[in-house]
Amino acid sequence: MSERKSIHGEWSSRLAFFLAATGSAVGLGNIWKFPYIAGDNGGGAFVIVYLACVVLIGLPILIAEITLGRRGRESPVNTLRSMALDEGRSRAWVGVGFIGMVSGIIILSFYSVVAGWSLDYLLLSLRGAYAGASADRISRLFAGLTGNPWRQMFWFTLFLAVSLWFSARGVRAGLERVARVMMPALFVLLLLLVVYALIVGNAAAAFAYLFNPDFSRLNGQVLLLAMGHSFFTLSLGIGAMMVYGAYLPNGVSIFRVSVWVAAADTGVALLAGLAIFPLVFAKGLAPAQGPGLIFTTLPLAFGAMPLGSLFGAAFFALLVLAAWTSAVSMIEPTVASLEERGLGRGRATLSVGVVVWLLGMVMDFSVNIWSGVAWQGRSLFELFNFVSSDIMLPLGGFLIALFTGWMVSERSLRRELGVSRPLLRLWLLVLRYVTPVGVLLIFLNALGLIRGAL
Ligand code: PHE
Repeated sequence: MSERKSIHGEWSSRLAFFLAATGSAVGLGNIWKFPYIAGDNGGGAFVIVYLACVVLIGLPILIAEITLGRRGRESPVNTLRSMALDEGRSRAWVGVGFIGMVSGIIILSFYSVVAGWSLDYLLLSLRGAYAGASADRISRLFAGLTGNPWRQMFWFTLFLAVSLWFSARGVRAGLERVARVMMPALFVLLLLLVVYALIVGNAAAAFAYLFNPDFSRLNGQVLLLAMGHSFFTLSLGIGAMMVYGAYLPNGVSIFRVSVWVAAADTGVALLAGLAIFPLVFAKGLAPAQGPGLIFTTLPLAFGAMPLGSLFGAAFFALLVLAAWTSAVSMIEPTVASLEERGLGRGRATLSVGVVVWLLGMVMDFSVNIWSGVAWQGRSLFELFNFVSSDIMLPLGGFLIALFTGWMVSERSLRRELGVSRPLLRLWLLVLRYVTPVGVLLIFLNALGLIRGAL
């Protein structure tokens, strides 16, 4: 296969890629979702399983996605098509790219709603709305927001519009620029918040909670959640990292930069835990609060702390920044694909935006006027969240692992990766056996199809 060039442009440097890919990885997953699922599932034990999933399942797939992307240099759909063709494989593999596009659009629809809540809370913090407030008043504050479809619509539409604007500006002027500005700001805010939480909060309780495992809490469902989350948090299974890899200059070591991205992402999740739990425990609050943890429990804690409104505002600003750099990556597989079909980038982004917005309205209504609509005990909102992150992402990742591990020749992979043979073999071993078998077992167990020791 001859060297391909991306029609969409390239990152200007390795650092730019690192920031953009970390920007995609670090998002609401790290700051909103990780703390609440860790909280719901007993803290430390969940954290350990999640770390194992990141190393054994997430990282190998991250490397695979970036490698495929750089080899194909196009949107995931076209990359998979050309790779399958080059390797003499079935064209059906293109389907993996389509699954990814659909997942990205679904995820962005509820992601925008949660990011919209964060924007609303940023304003509430600046107005001191929860300073010194009672638990009751704070739950009413959150219910007041989620119960009001138009207020929610305003914020999520604003969030989405800004994301689309960056996305429409293209790889360098949009995706790279947003990461270069927002990621450093995000790191500074996060560190400030951790220092604050450790000083004014209960650091010892938070450490014990996050790092002392209680293995009696583990079961198949927890494993599925931890695995699903390792995909979600590393932006895997939808082709986001694949398309970011398509813009990666030749000569950058994919292995090394992937390890850095995974490490930065995990580091941010743990730091977010250390910014949140010391405050929660200082007030003797319960960590298991579900998705509302940072919108109800945390404001209660902030509201009772010195300078709480100010640091609360910093926290919600952090969430919004993290969400913007992720949002642009969720639709990039689709935008790139439409662009390759001849649509201008602006139009491509707008078309995707309209679909996401309509689904976003469904998500908006699902927590108020349609809150009675449920399927198997899950609201529409929970259903979108569950089906996309716990089913579609692992499925996409599983297929990408199979494709890379079994369908692409070792020679092509070595050419793209440029690593020593033992390292390549080790990675392939994990990708061929450990990753797919792991995903499969966890799936079957959670669906109750096998009865494991768990
Ligand atoms: N990784 C992002 C987060 O943790 C979410 C995401 C998922 C982004 C899939 C892109 C693709 O919030």
